[in-house]
Amino acid sequence: MTTQTWTVSDVRVETPLIHRIGLVAPRGEALPPLASGAHLQVMVPGLPERRCYSIVHLTVAESLDPAPRTHWIAVRREEPSRGGSVWMHQLKAGDAVTVGEPRNEFPLHAAHAGDGPTVLIAGGVGITPIASHAAALTAQARPFALHYSSRSRDHLAMVDALQALCGQALHLHADDEADSRLDLAALLDRYRPSQHLYVCGPKGMINAAVAAARARGWADDHVHVELFVEAAAQQGDAAFEVELRASGMTLQVPADKTILEAMEAAGCDPMFDCRRGECGVCQATVLEGVPDHRDYFLSDSERASGQLIQVCISRAKTARLVLDL
Ligand code: FES
Repeated sequence: MTTQTWTVSDVRVETPLIHRIGLVAPRGEALPPLASGAHLQVMVPGLPERRCYSIVHLTVAESLDPAPRTHWIAVRREEPSRGGSVWMHQLKAGDAVTVGEPRNEFPLHAAHAGDGPTVLIAGGVGITPIASHAAALTAQARPFALHYSSRSRDHLAMVDALQALCGQALHLHADDEADSRLDLAALLDRYRPSQHLYVCGPKGMINAAVAAARARGWADDHVHVELFVEAAAQQGDAAFEVELRASGMTLQVPADKTILEAMEAAGCDPMFDCRRGECGVCQATVLEGVPDHRDYFLSDSERASGQLIQVCISRAKTARLVLDL
């Protein structure tokens, strides 16, 4: 992967857990413009895998800038952290950061007549790409509603800028306030399946939003999600065995590791990109065993067939899986 070294220009403490970090080219030259939903891949010293951070646009001018001098990202300090977010939170102006090619796996859909206002839902630092979508929709004069939720008011980031950008379209929710807590089912009852829905936040929020949308008739191509954390072990996860039949290898996948991580530890060179079950790059064919699907890539019918698996995040319901890898 091609990488570049950029420089931290500014760090803003947005909440007790979220820092917004400005990055510039070494000599201040123009950076490539990035559409809403795009993310930067950041190399963290000492960690083998890159960290992905979405670009934040908080104004129409930022969204439309053809030659931006600064790209802003927002980073939540994870608890516990594998080291990436702690390192990112120690950055200060002047520090160097190595970034890989930008990607966009959460793009805004093209405008179609009859779609209705776009519905944007963000949880915590998931506001990062959602804010950029709000800026892009505003720039295109397309209607939207943005629902932004966090554990409490003081954990809602960039609120002043969001209010200036969104006006009446912004709806703030705090988990510790009974009258403002986000109720996804009640929220989706107010919208129609013809509207495009974008959700970025923790896994529980995404799962609940996807389930509520499907139950109300939303088609998968109108529900767009982005998870801001990588695969995490869930309570009850157990070790299992994976045979990579084409490679002639059998691996043990511990309860706290993914199939992808087990393959990397065994010296394989698997294909992957997002490591969050969203892009489909790591997909493999299941020859034996029953997958435990945890991705957001497969359709319901593909899931039900049990013939495909995203090895970056999904696990096994059986003690053994055989994959065509
Ligand atoms: S790497 Fe993207 S779905 Fe697995």
